[in-house]
Amino acid sequence: MTHHVLVTRKIPQEGIDILLRNDCRVEINPEDRPVTRDELLGGAGRADGVLSQMVDRIDKDVLETASRVRIFSNFAVGFNNVDLGSATRLGIMITNTPGVLTDTTADLAWALLFAAARRIVEGDRLTRAGLFKDFSPTFFLGTDITGKTLGIIGAGRIGTAMALRSAGFRMNVLYCDAEPNRVLEKDLQAKRVGLDDLLKQSDFVSVHVPLLPETVHLIGPRELGVMKKSAFLINTSRGPVVDEKALVQALKSKTIAGAGLDVYEHEPALEPGLAEQDNAILLPHIGSATLETRIKMATTAAENLVAGLKGIRPPNLVNVEVWDSPARKRHG
Ligand code: GLV
Repeated sequence: MTHHVLVTRKIPQEGIDILLRNDCRVEINPEDRPVTRDELLGGAGRADGVLSQMVDRIDKDVLETASRVRIFSNFAVGFNNVDLGSATRLGIMITNTPGVLTDTTADLAWALLFAAARRIVEGDRLTRAGLFKDFSPTFFLGTDITGKTLGIIGAGRIGTAMALRSAGFRMNVLYCDAEPNRVLEKDLQAKRVGLDDLLKQSDFVSVHVPLLPETVHLIGPRELGVMKKSAFLINTSRGPVVDEKALVQALKSKTIAGAGLDVYEHEPALEPGLAEQDNAILLPHIGSATLETRIKMATTAAENLVAGLKGIRPPNLVNVEVWDSPARKRHG
């Protein structure tokens, strides 16, 4: 049986090829931009399955309009763009792409950490502007990384990978998570501490929690005030986890030394004043953006989608409780 699949944005061809090999009739957004709300509602209304992007708001209205859709396969590890409760109630499967982007995102968190500590972007700008006049013992001083304390907020897949990369720098690792992380404790002698202790003691704080109602503004003015004046904040998770207005204030007033950000509270917009801060490194949400990883994300998302359409439990089902629900079974 042919399945009608909506792909809301161009993805690496390897993913599309999997859909085509599995009897899918593929409707792809012809333009390389996010679908509009109307396009999403219209397309989801015609489809049996949707390969969605993190910026597509899959809310109750979309889910209710998508009367034939069995599965939304999100091209991302995060799924905060989906109303999971409504999807489960309606018997619609939601999948994500975990694992394949763990190392790539942890690498980028380190790139931000290095860049912030050693003022890489500022230095590049200065050199290109012809302002490198001579070597000076007191010029352009950064901060050491080796031997310092790394604080990981959220020791899941990416937080763990970030922490494990610190071994070469002989860092002291603290982490904050609801669960103990045996790998970090055994391999790095990392200590599980409360958030305030982590913020007080860390030289580099790296955020790796998912965006949930309880993690919105997890780092706000109070938390920034608890951090060392010499510390750096790295965020490769989701923008709203950090109160960006408070962060701009903290960067301006040197409450903390600097920040490395890949995500923003009102993405792609930046909080006014953020772009003017030389002690912030700002990247355009590229945590998983390598050729290799984006191909793996495309094939993973396509495999999840095909499984769901064929009535096979998808490897990365997020709302696992939907699998045995009568509402899903009604979809066939
Ligand atoms: C990207 O931010 C993702 O969630 O995969």
